[in-house]
Amino acid sequence: MRAVREAPANPASLHRPGRHAQAVLEQARDRVAAVLRCNAREVLFCGSATEANNLAVLGAARALERLNGPKPRLISSLAEHPAVLSPLRLLQQEGFPLVCLGLDPCARLSAEELTEALDCGPALLALQWANNETGAVQPLPESLPGAVHFHCDGAQGFGKLPWDPRLAQASTLVLSGHKFRAPKGIAVLQVRDDALLDPVLAGGGQQRGIRPGTESPELAAAFACAMELAARDQDSFSLQTREACRAMMGEVRGFFAAKDLPAGARLQENHPPAGEPTLPNTLNLSFAGIDGRGLLPACDAEGLALSSGSACSSGSSQPSPVLRACGLDLKLARATVRVSFGWGQGRAEGEDAGGRLCQVLRRVYKCGKR
Ligand SMILES: Cc1ncc(COP(=O)(O)O)c(C=O)c1O
Repeated sequence: MRAVREAPANPASLHRPGRHAQAVLEQARDRVAAVLRCNAREVLFCGSATEANNLAVLGAARALERLNGPKPRLISSLAEHPAVLSPLRLLQQEGFPLVCLGLDPCARLSAEELTEALDCGPALLALQWANNETGAVQPLPESLPGAVHFHCDGAQGFGKLPWDPRLAQASTLVLSGHKFRAPKGIAVLQVRDDALLDPVLAGGGQQRGIRPGTESPELAAAFACAMELAARDQDSFSLQTREACRAMMGEVRGFFAAKDLPAGARLQENHPPAGEPTLPNTLNLSFAGIDGRGLLPACDAEGLALSSGSACSSGSSQPSPVLRACGLDLKLARATVRVSFGWGQGRAEGEDAGGRLCQVLRRVYKCGKR
């Protein structure tokens, strides 16, 4: 709030209030760089992770083509968020060859398939740190051939997973503020000094000309503050939300262990099995034997704020394309909920959420009170 009061001017203005706003902005950039252990020049503020991913993917593909010759191969997977997949599809329409690697039932890539794909010459690899729907942590490459430009969408990993040193190989990395309690409308694109990246917006020269447009010192300051807290609290976030997930799963598994369920009633867990790398706060559950179309409204009425896929696709009646790419049929993909616990939620909230979900399941499976 102090940053909002103190930095109302445009940070590009040369007068005293402008210089002050610039100082607030640059201090935020320094603090973000300190958490990322990078040079402050590498930190660009954007309006959302969607914007930052578009810039990273479109900007790198165009720069690689302009400077290195033929259109590079694009390597990615259908587990990516639409903020990455949609710009990749745009590039595919422009003639860039797109290779989508296969997914296992939890939306994970195979490390072997990824290594093979990377060994075939110049490429732009777009790979998320962790999947927003199933929580799967992707196998980040151990090393990269020189001709590969690596873009990582880190929106889901930061603050939830311990820092992964393999991220240092990424030419560009995206973080989304509202994923770790910064206000909505602010994200960071880290662009390594040696990364090739063309701007996608034509405008002024702010932020090395790569992301022109007036920056928001107040949102940047809030981002830096939330980021420091998320890095500090990552361990306890992980412990608490893991407890919440465990407690909720106890309730839900108990429901499906009962003997009086209708024929065909079955639980399918789409998140990675216990003990495998996963986001600590995320569950993805499918319920066989029901028409899933009323499921989310029923959960909402029970006080459960769940989704079925990416929040940005919530208005769509289509089932999650990620789950479809994992092999779920249309009916099961429709009968799916994605659960994500937040800061301050632990075992008690997990038990409560599990109990509420069981109430909904009793109604949709039309079984008596147990
Ligand atoms: C993995 C991932 N990437 C990108 C985004 C887009 O983020 P934003 O809402 O900041 O545009 C999200 C949002 O849910 C996400 O989960």
